[in-house]
Amino acid sequence: MDKFDVTVIGSGPGGYVAAIRCAQLGMKTAIIERYSTLGGTCLNVGCIPSKALLDSSEHYHNALKNFGKHGIETDGVRLNWPGMLGRKDDVVGQTCSGVEYLMKKNEIKVIHGHGSFETNQKVLVQGEDGSNISVETENVIIATGSKPSSIPGVQIDKQRIITSTEALKLAEIPQKMVVIGGGIIGLELGSVYSRLGTEVQVVEYLDRLIPSMDGSLGKEMLRTLKKQGIQFFLSHAVQEAKNFGDKVVVKALNKKEQEVEFDADYCLVAVGRRPYTEGLNLNAAGLEIDEKGRVPVDENLQTQTPGIYAIGDVVRGAMLAHKAEEEGVFVAEVIAGEKPHINYRNIPSVLYTWPEAAGVGFTEEELISEERPYKSGSFPFRALGRARAAMETDGLVKILADPDTDEILGVHMMGARIADLIAEAVVALEYRASAEDLSRMSHAHPTFAEAVKEAALDATAKRPLHL
Ligand code: FAD
Ligand code: NAI
Repeated sequence: MDKFDVTVIGSGPGGYVAAIRCAQLGMKTAIIERYSTLGGTCLNVGCIPSKALLDSSEHYHNALKNFGKHGIETDGVRLNWPGMLGRKDDVVGQTCSGVEYLMKKNEIKVIHGHGSFETNQKVLVQGEDGSNISVETENVIIATGSKPSSIPGVQIDKQRIITSTEALKLAEIPQKMVVIGGGIIGLELGSVYSRLGTEVQVVEYLDRLIPSMDGSLGKEMLRTLKKQGIQFFLSHAVQEAKNFGDKVVVKALNKKEQEVEFDADYCLVAVGRRPYTEGLNLNAAGLEIDEKGRVPVDENLQTQTPGIYAIGDVVRGAMLAHKAEEEGVFVAEVIAGEKPHINYRNIPSVLYTWPEAAGVGFTEEELISEERPYKSGSFPFRALGRARAAMETDGLVKILADPDTDEILGVHMMGARIADLIAEAVVALEYRASAEDLSRMSHAHPTFAEAVKEAALDATAKRPLHL
């Protein structure tokens, strides 16, 4: 095999996007993936299958609970769980094949097998069939992603004490599920099973949900998801989880240090993810991981060894697919001698429950802790004509702005369709818009987006029109 300009290890959204951009820039590129399908966590066991199940379970839930209110009778609605899982698998299959097609189209050499460093310019690929291929390369991009983590006392056995990966393909709908962690995965997959009829109990260590997002969203989400039937146990520190064969028992200490016991068919452990570098033989390339297991990188995402870069979940920053993608493009352009830029503050995060939650820029808590002055404006969905027409009145948009310059500092939303609406806020932040700029732009009527305009009016001059 000829020497490659760039070899990417890992084909998740970071790796495969980096490979495409390298190829677009004229570099001879290889990508190494240990699994038989491309796409990494996101396409195989993350973003795509979870959203497929979120959408399907939402249709089922609406048919049971909400269609009647629209004047649509739906007697005899039945759940076909294998059918729902089958559709999810089809979506995953199509999406992964799409990446394969993109590799071919861009003439990227795909090598299946486990990659590990022999030297800083040589990567050994060990195939499942026992084959060994040595790949010579000028540059390497480490894009090996992350794996679920756990907590002391909780041993994941993948049978009853499970991670998101198993939760995406359970053979049965559980009667009861305990979810450890009220973060993003806990609420998304907790919602899926709650909608399908499972009694879901979320046990969270902190006194709030989704701690990575603005506090107002956690509060609203708690209220809304409780209404949907999910039970929450905040300020509970899980001590242990045990599989008793036909059930699992989880023990936690509440605020008063009293032991609280939960039993269920399954315990979903959703307490975060850890960077994955096992078997990479980083030493051979002169590399070490940091105290959190991440590959340390500089502002160019280059490791301490020149020519070796790292991106996505395996490096510092948010563990998000679109963050990994931006870094993939960034590194390819750095290698090509360009001067790209990523504004990490403007990377949005989205929670795909229903209603959805999303945010970008500073949270209110961050501004307070940095002692940075700010003003705030908000607008509730219940005052929107579109929200009433759609029967989607839970939600709000909150805009944080600089009190002197009016520059938007952060936008946080909860409500129907805001996973897409947050893009407007990203544009505003990227172009350093003021709240007044947003408030003077025409927003189509009736839309959910009108809440952005109204919240901007509230932030800039305390004069919303429809409140
Ligand atoms: P990964 O996608 O983890 O890919 C790494 C790849 O490297 C894997 O395919 C792995 O097999 C391969 N690999 C590792 N080591 C080696 C080796 N030595 N040799 C060869 N190959 C190797 N993010 C969002 O932005 N939106 C969402 O909606 C979302 N939903 C999620 C839902 C769930 C249930 C989960 C678990 C995650 C979700 N995420 C979401 C997070 C998202 O999946 C990750 O941030 C993203 O996949 C990170 O991309 P990556 O390229 O860094 O790594
Ligand atoms: P997370 O960091 O979002 O949430 C973990 C939660 O577990 C936190 O609320 C934390 O306080 C809690 N916790 C920690 N220890 C605990 C204990 N002992 N007892 C009870 N609770 C405890 O992590 P999560 O949900 O596992 O997701 C992992 C990553 O995957 C996230 O970083 C997220 O960015 C990414 N992801 C993104 C999605 C999206 O963009 N929509 C969807 C799913 C995952």
